[in-house]
Amino acid sequence: MYVFKAAVVGAGTMGGEIAQVIAASGVDVVLKDIDQRFVDTGLEKARDVTQAQLGGLVAKEKISSEDADRQLEELTGRITGATDYDGFGDVDFVVEAVPERMQIKQAVFAEIDSVTPGHAILSSNTSSLSITEMAEVTTRPEKVVGFHFFYPASMMRLIEVIEGDETSEETLQATTNFAQQIRKTAIRCGEGPGFVVNRILNSAVSEVWKVTHEEGLDVKEVDKEIQESRAAPMGPFFLCDLLGLDTVLHVAEHLNDSYGDRFFVSPAMKELVAAGNLGQKTGKGFYEHS
Ligand SMILES: NC(=O)c1ccc[n+]([C@@H]2O[C@H](COP(=O)([O-])OP(=O)(O)OC[C@H]3O[C@@H](n4cnc5c(N)ncnc54)[C@H](O)[C@@H]3O)[C@@H](O)[C@H]2O)c1
Repeated sequence: MYVFKAAVVGAGTMGGEIAQVIAASGVDVVLKDIDQRFVDTGLEKARDVTQAQLGGLVAKEKISSEDADRQLEELTGRITGATDYDGFGDVDFVVEAVPERMQIKQAVFAEIDSVTPGHAILSSNTSSLSITEMAEVTTRPEKVVGFHFFYPASMMRLIEVIEGDETSEETLQATTNFAQQIRKTAIRCGEGPGFVVNRILNSAVSEVWKVTHEEGLDVKEVDKEIQESRAAPMGPFFLCDLLGLDTVLHVAEHLNDSYGDRFFVSPAMKELVAAGNLGQKTGKGFYEHS
């Protein structure tokens, strides 16, 4: 199946950039959220990323600035913002990117099942939740699949294609093809907790959270040391702020529930989330963000 038109549900940390990636590959995309404010932020993010990418090409003298201006309008023009499902009647592929809560995801899957054509593939960008459980509320569980981008979606090449109990081979193949169509590299994995990447990544980062907590270390000092040692491009606490502490905490708790104490849950992160300080998206987390 070739994807002529796609939709992204949820225009938050991930959704705006996912829409940008799809539009940049030449596919029309609807970007839906529950409030026009969130839609506008997602559209703005998509425009900023496109502008930065085209600016890079101009700086390398690959395209002229006139071409960049024209392409910016063309690429961003492929994304339509929405607060309803009016534009979903002719989509071929949906990416759900709403908060990491099964109740919200299932409500969205029931809705997109009822508003999209029968052939459309319904995918979730979930970091850890069960694809099978999302598929259960639809009439097409064989067309429900995980499609897990990494932050920032416009730069990270990998996508995990996650197989639920009912996902068909045809859906897995079409989803892998779509990943290639939008210039990403797909790996297929089962729906074990954390899938592949977060299971590996969290086993390392939870060790840092644990030592920081047990030794009473300063998170900014830990970040600085890690960044200066060039072990990573930025410190893990700063990265968590960018990813969204609610999402990171949810994944950490899920891994802890699934695999036990070798996956640590940071009490400091729990406190921040309980206070509504979710990192960059709310302006405060381990750091203050403007
Ligand atoms: N943040 C990351 O680094 C990251 C990376 C990979 C995957 N993910 C996954 O992507 C998904 C989204 O994460 P995020 O960080 O973008 O979350 P976010 O909180 O930044 O954004 C979620 C958006 O969904 C919107 N929303 C809520 N209910 C909705 C509904 N019923 N219909 C439409 N929109 C609705 C919210 O208004 C918000 O704008 C989660 O499943 C998360 O696990 C996140």
